Amino acid sequence: MINSNKKSSKTIAIIAIIASLAGLLFGFDTGIISGALLFIEKDFHASVWVQEIIVGSVLVGAIIGSSGSGKLADKLGRRIMLLYISSIFVFGTFLSALAPNVEILLIGRFFIGLAIGMGSYTAPLYIAESAPQHKRGELVSLNQLMITVGIMCSYFISYSFSGTVGAWRWMFAIGLVPASMLGIGFLFLPESPRWLVKQNRRQEAAKILSFLRGASNVDAELDSITNSLQERQAKFKDLFSAWARPVLFLGVALAFFQQTTGINAIIYYSPRVFQMAGFYDASSSILATAGVGVLNVLSTIFAIKVVDRLGRRPLMFIGLTGMGASLFIISYVFHDPSNTSVLRWATVGSVFSYIVCFAFSMGALMWLMLSEIFPLEIRGVAMSLAVASCWFFNLSVSTTFLTLVKMIGISNTFSLYGAMCVIGLVFGYLFVPETKGVSLEEIEKNIRKRLPLREIGQSVGANTRLDPVREIKPL
Ligand code: BGC
Repeated sequence: MINSNKKSSKTIAIIAIIASLAGLLFGFDTGIISGALLFIEKDFHASVWVQEIIVGSVLVGAIIGSSGSGKLADKLGRRIMLLYISSIFVFGTFLSALAPNVEILLIGRFFIGLAIGMGSYTAPLYIAESAPQHKRGELVSLNQLMITVGIMCSYFISYSFSGTVGAWRWMFAIGLVPASMLGIGFLFLPESPRWLVKQNRRQEAAKILSFLRGASNVDAELDSITNSLQERQAKFKDLFSAWARPVLFLGVALAFFQQTTGINAIIYYSPRVFQMAGFYDASSSILATAGVGVLNVLSTIFAIKVVDRLGRRPLMFIGLTGMGASLFIISYVFHDPSNTSVLRWATVGSVFSYIVCFAFSMGALMWLMLSEIFPLEIRGVAMSLAVASCWFFNLSVSTTFLTLVKMIGISNTFSLYGAMCVIGLVFGYLFVPETKGVSLEEIEKNIRKRLPLREIGQSVGANTRLDPVREIKPL
């Protein structure tokens, strides 16, 4: 039994790692643009506006991909869907790496965005449906961690290729490695048992489930899957009923503050910011950016470790305060750029402290809280709406950053993001609940009792915390 448990843990870990390659690609393909853009600008004489569209094309693809994939993943199955996603990644990457002009590059990046959006829905869904209940939290978090690992790898790859001829083409082309690994992996991985039950293919589901669990009798789990599938699924209009509206507001507002406090101005454009601060050669600014990638990963690991001990609100308040302070320091040193060494090092130090504070607060917390605050009945639709809005706010910030810098200057642009941190703090103080140590059922009861948002994390009875992602219907 112990052996079969060990074997099944190993099987499920391998499955989760392969599926979370989609998360790695999400991070890689959104992060790589920051290094590539410096070279694309020169090769194609791309104006600020064109550069913003190149960044935005992925995000438009991701909005479309994430909102359309619910239906497709139900129709085709998770496995086939992930095989398609891998092919779209490969196709988009070829097109981008070989693009003879900006138009083809935009089409290639749009396809990559489609795959990112589809993957950000399907990969966590597949992992959650295949994992045993007590492991879901850990394994779904693995997907988030892989996003930051993907961003970090993209920065290192940008740095290593920055001296090569046709640098940006190589930077994009490396994405073919994880994209093909995802596809090859899924040729061998089994279909999600939960999807098979939904298709009335119980026998196949039983076989796969006993392989995954290393047990011959899986009837109890199959029955519970069958029962849960009979629950009523909410329609889009249920989201706007009086009791659901406040949590929907909370979810979309968390996405709003995660994005408008400027994270992707840093993730997508930091080499540019470092250049503006005086790191003139492309490779030293890309190296400083690699530091951003490493700190992002380390701070995300820290967040996953402490979030259940310290709580959501303290992390959010400390994080937003640190982010705001860092942004105002950047704004201050750019306001008077005469002292060049202060400008350089204060910018690097503040960008580093900003990313650390973001990763342990708004970075990890938004995704975690979205998985906690929506009652089961509306979780699927509400999550997809909040996630699509996150991509939309991301698009709005990242496609306006360079224009803002041109129009109002870099100092004022960073002040603006800093001001959003201050507003986010007020919003957090007034509306964000502490959900640490409360069961999802208690949160749901409080929402239905129409308690104010800040109080929906109150414990109603005994402390019966459940696995936070016990019943997540992932993105
Ligand atoms: C955000 C992304 C961001 C990433 C950086 C995620 O939580 O949603 O927009 O690029 O964090 O690590």
